[in-house]
Amino acid sequence: MTKQFDTIIENIGQLLTMNHGDGPLKGKEMSELPVLTNAAIGINEGLIDWIGTHEEAQSHKATERIDAEGKLVTPGLVDPHTHLVFGGSREHEMALKQQGVPYLEILKRGGGILSTVGATREASEEELLKKARFHLDRMISYGVTTVEAKSGYGLDKETELKQLRVAKKLNDEHAADLVSTFLGAHAIPPGYKERSDEFLQEMLDMLSDIEKENLAEFVDIFCETGVFTVEQSRRFLKAAKDKGFSVKIHADEIDPLGGTEMATEIGATSGDHLVGASDKGIQALGETDTIAVLLPGTSFYLNKGKFANARGMLEAGAAVALSTDFNPGSSPTENLQFIMSLASLQLKMTPEEIWNAVTVNSAYAIKRGEQAGKLKEGRKADIILWDAPNYHYIPYHYGVNHTNTVMKNGRIIYRKEKLHEQLSTH
Ligand code: NIG
Ligand code: FE
Repeated sequence: MTKQFDTIIENIGQLLTMNHGDGPLKGKEMSELPVLTNAAIGINEGLIDWIGTHEEAQSHKATERIDAEGKLVTPGLVDPHTHLVFGGSREHEMALKQQGVPYLEILKRGGGILSTVGATREASEEELLKKARFHLDRMISYGVTTVEAKSGYGLDKETELKQLRVAKKLNDEHAADLVSTFLGAHAIPPGYKERSDEFLQEMLDMLSDIEKENLAEFVDIFCETGVFTVEQSRRFLKAAKDKGFSVKIHADEIDPLGGTEMATEIGATSGDHLVGASDKGIQALGETDTIAVLLPGTSFYLNKGKFANARGMLEAGAAVALSTDFNPGSSPTENLQFIMSLASLQLKMTPEEIWNAVTVNSAYAIKRGEQAGKLKEGRKADIILWDAPNYHYIPYHYGVNHTNTVMKNGRIIYRKEKLHEQLSTH
């Protein structure tokens, strides 16, 4: 029977629907990656209506037909850990980095996160919105259609709420889907050095305002030497959970403090970074539902030569997701494709594991596993057409943008610019 679609994408060389497994993919399940060849997709009213073969598609009608030219097509990628909204930038810290001044030492001197806090406090809501939109547009161009965004550059009520309102506004007006996280516990602000518990209480007191305006779904904390201890983090996140929020944690990013096992103990949706995770923490990831969100771009940019033990986590049976950690200090990049290359080279993940990590598992890491990260009938048509012959190609050919066309809710929102014809010698 002939079907009628708004759009048909046909002549797809390799189609990754990611439509396998129930829930997050754990351990060995991450090596599975069903591939459809010579496939086609039918879209109606922004949703996927049909998936079949290219031949079958020829008997169906569509208002618009898109030729995938025999290349790779996948779901829109999901970036589950970004610090999207902030003022200023920190290129001036590059010289300090080159001199070997550690990240935590820059923070201790009042720079790092605290320098961005200053710039974010000064910026108007309008300025922050414009800047976040710029970075989000760039993420879209790299094939990311769902993004988590954290606050954490205010460290006071007014500015934290300002950041969260910007993320909410952006979610309303932008094609991308945003998921908000309150990271008021990102650093100890000046004036609170000896009173960090008092500061954490102030951040907890904000949760009722955040709830009232529906400004965040997750609460996060930076558990690190010189910032918040494991015990402070445990108490803080438990209190947030009691108030109905889901929780995440920046754990064992630089020093191995034991934040990974604590994350699993309190039932965090995700534990993020986990570079210094202990063997016990890694085992716990395999035995619980806490998703390991790995951020190899941060290890690369902090330049300490140490990456998370992804293979150990996969062997233990953990669900691993990948993210940029986009932020102005430890990982200034919107390019999730580059992270896929780093995951390949430094985390020794296979292409199959990497694709599962940036779609299905990253969606579950922000509780969007039932909405994003898979192509199946009834889901939003968030689809990427790649300028790549197969899925192995993206992590392999590194540092460039491979997207050809980015579709969100069935609408094309980005298309690779074509070189001007005058550049041709003929
Ligand atoms: O995930 N470590 C804490 N937060 C960010 C960095 C934020 C910044 O340097 O501005 C991270 O690495
Ligand atoms: Fe982060």
